[in-house]
Amino acid sequence: MPSVVLIGGQWGDEGKGKVTDFLAEKADIVVRYQGGNNAGHTVVVGEKEFKLHLIPSGILYADKTCIIGNGVVIDPAVLIQELEYLAEKGINTDNLRISERAHIIMPYHKRLDEVIEEGKGAGKIGTTKRGIGPAYMDKAARVGIRFVDLLDKEVFSTLVKSNLEEKNMLFTKIYDTEGFDADAVIEEYTAYADRLRKYAADTSILIYDVLQAGDNVLFEGAQGTLLDLDHGTYPYVTSSHPIAGAACIGAGLGPTEINKVIGIIKAYTTRVGEGPFPTELENEAGQHLAAKGHEFGTTTGRPRRCGWFDAVISRYTARTSGLTSMAITKLDVLTGLDTLRICTGYKRGNEVIRDFPASLKVLAECEPVYEEMPGWTEDITNAARFDDLPEAAQNYLNRLSQLTGVPIAIIGVGSRRSQTLILDNLF
Ligand code: GDP
Ligand code: IMO
Ligand code: MG
Repeated sequence: MPSVVLIGGQWGDEGKGKVTDFLAEKADIVVRYQGGNNAGHTVVVGEKEFKLHLIPSGILYADKTCIIGNGVVIDPAVLIQELEYLAEKGINTDNLRISERAHIIMPYHKRLDEVIEEGKGAGKIGTTKRGIGPAYMDKAARVGIRFVDLLDKEVFSTLVKSNLEEKNMLFTKIYDTEGFDADAVIEEYTAYADRLRKYAADTSILIYDVLQAGDNVLFEGAQGTLLDLDHGTYPYVTSSHPIAGAACIGAGLGPTEINKVIGIIKAYTTRVGEGPFPTELENEAGQHLAAKGHEFGTTTGRPRRCGWFDAVISRYTARTSGLTSMAITKLDVLTGLDTLRICTGYKRGNEVIRDFPASLKVLAECEPVYEEMPGWTEDITNAARFDDLPEAAQNYLNRLSQLTGVPIAIIGVGSRRSQTLILDNLF
């Protein structure tokens, strides 16, 4: 009964959507367990491109059950738009199930995200302004509104009114902006409830039953290790837990049910938004990665910052998520670079640090220690097997695996489903 957790191993946008879509073929259900529509997962199937934010990438297969777990925060308007977008592209979404325990993003969460960011000025996080942080804040403060509450108009109305009493004071008295009219919010959201009601379920039971039957479950992570609220570059992080342990909490199952964890890691590194990035490049090599890798955010369209592969980070991901294997994505983007650099540690004064530091002040004092490897010029986008890759590419991959201490199961050489090399079948 293999259950596989798939996570992002860097700062997000590693290609999780593509690998999820690939692995979903052999899964019976696919589960999202954290984050919200801050995520943007692009999947290319044939000539069609799909951009998904909330619905698991497994939805592109007609026969897969797709679950939005309790750990996800849901903007119902965005979810409805996504359902309509998929319907227009001919994708059936009847197999979607939404946890009754998932929290709802409210209009005041989105406005709070904006005003909090604006208030930070130069110290801003660079959030996606989708209301993610404020929704998780309310969840932790025990004033959040869950999907099950949204579906009961009486409960929902009471919760909206009590929340707005406090939130409207914040908006008008602290942030000097307008508040919200409770009745208008209730009316708007009641329409969403009616549209989404049919998808509601106790999804923990659904997943449990599938596992008991010995069928395959794939957990699709959003964001990445260094955006984790506990383990990321705090405070430049998201407000959920992208590391693998979150799959248990965000889907409602025990750690003993997880069999494998695959880390999705780009052959280089990118980051969107503010915060430290030791191997960031502001030279020609960086421009090569950005241009060839089309490194623009799927959700906000912002340019992604680019840099060399960082093995301090991949080792950190291997440890904090217990990786059993990894997928190295976007290897094709490196084609044409004469020399490739891999960061193996951070130099701080006379000391070389091998483990990712907690202090941002320490991190700011670190200089990456690089080793160099020769690049390749051959087109690798049609490679079908590891042996088809040029020797320099093989050596590069072997070195990444050695430095990370984790075997490579999958290699990405292009954005299409077919441009995927499989070294180990996970299911
Ligand atoms: P996610 O958030 O982790 O799902 O990643 P995104 O979808 O935001 O960004 C990854 C981008 O790279 C998408 O546009 C993918 O279509 C694309 N992509 C994924 N894997 C590969 C690959 O191996 N090679 C190339 N060239 N593009 C890829
Ligand atoms: P996927 O799933 C890349 C970043 C934002 C910002 C920080 C906090 O596509 O990999 P938030 O809106 O979550 O409060 O923003 O996190 N961020 C992502 N960066 N990929 C993502 O998702 C991201 N989701 C959030 O840019 O720096
Ligand atoms: Mg993305």
